[in-house]
Amino acid sequence: MIDIHCHILPGLDDGPSTMDKAVAMALAAVSSGTTRIVATPHFKNGVFEVSPEMVKASVAVFTGVLEENKIALEVLPGAEIRISPDTCSHLDQGELLPLGASRYYLFELPDIFIKDGIITVLRQLRQREVIPVIAHPERNRTIQRHPEMIPEFIFENALLQITGKSMTGENGKHSFKIARDMVKEGLAHFVASDGHSIRRRPPCLDDVVKVVEKIGGRKAVRAIFEENPAKIVADGQV
Ligand SMILES: [Fe+2]
Repeated sequence: MIDIHCHILPGLDDGPSTMDKAVAMALAAVSSGTTRIVATPHFKNGVFEVSPEMVKASVAVFTGVLEENKIALEVLPGAEIRISPDTCSHLDQGELLPLGASRYYLFELPDIFIKDGIITVLRQLRQREVIPVIAHPERNRTIQRHPEMIPEFIFENALLQITGKSMTGENGKHSFKIARDMVKEGLAHFVASDGHSIRRRPPCLDDVVKVVEKIGGRKAVRAIFEENPAKIVADGQV
C-alpha cells in the first residue's frame, strides 16, 4: 500500500519529535502492509515554518536511516498545505511542495470557510495545472454541516482523501458517517493514515482496508489504497 498523507519526518511539525520515534512509525507502517509513504509535514498553517528544502533534506537523512536499519519503506517528499487566498502566490514563489514529483498537491481546508473562496483558489490552481487533493474533508466542521459541498469540490477538479480513523469511527460519528457515505457513493479517491505518532494516529491502514472492503468491495480497496496512490507517485491521471 501507499500512504499519501503521513507526518513521519522527525522534528519538523507535530509528528515524531525524534528519529527513534520516526523509525518506530516506519516499522509499524511496514508491518501493516505499507511500502511507500509520502511525508507531508504541515505547510502554511500558521504554526510550523517548514520549507521545501527542509523536507527534502529530512527525507534524505531519514531514507539513509531506514536503509541502515534494513526497513523496506520508501519515503517521498510532500506537504500538507493549509489552503488560503495566498496559496497560488506561495506556489508561484516555489514555497510549496507537491506529493512526490507530481502535479498533485495535498491541501487542508480551514475548519470554518466560505465555499466560494475555496472554489476560487481551486480554479486558480487549475490554471496552473495543479491537481488538488483535499485532505480529510469528512473531519472539517464546515463540511460536516454541509456535506452536499463534497461533489462540488470534485466538480472543480479536486480529489478527496479520507483519514483512516474516520472509516473506523475513531474520529467521531460525524466524520464516520461522511467517510462511509463517500466510499459508498464513489467520492473517495484515497484513504491515508495522517499518522502523527505510534500512539496518536499510527501510520497503519490494515484495519481500515477491511472496513472499505465491506462497504465498497475489492474494487474500491484496489482503487483507494493501491491504484490511485500509485498514479500520484507516477504522476499519472487518477
Ligand atoms: Fe495531516
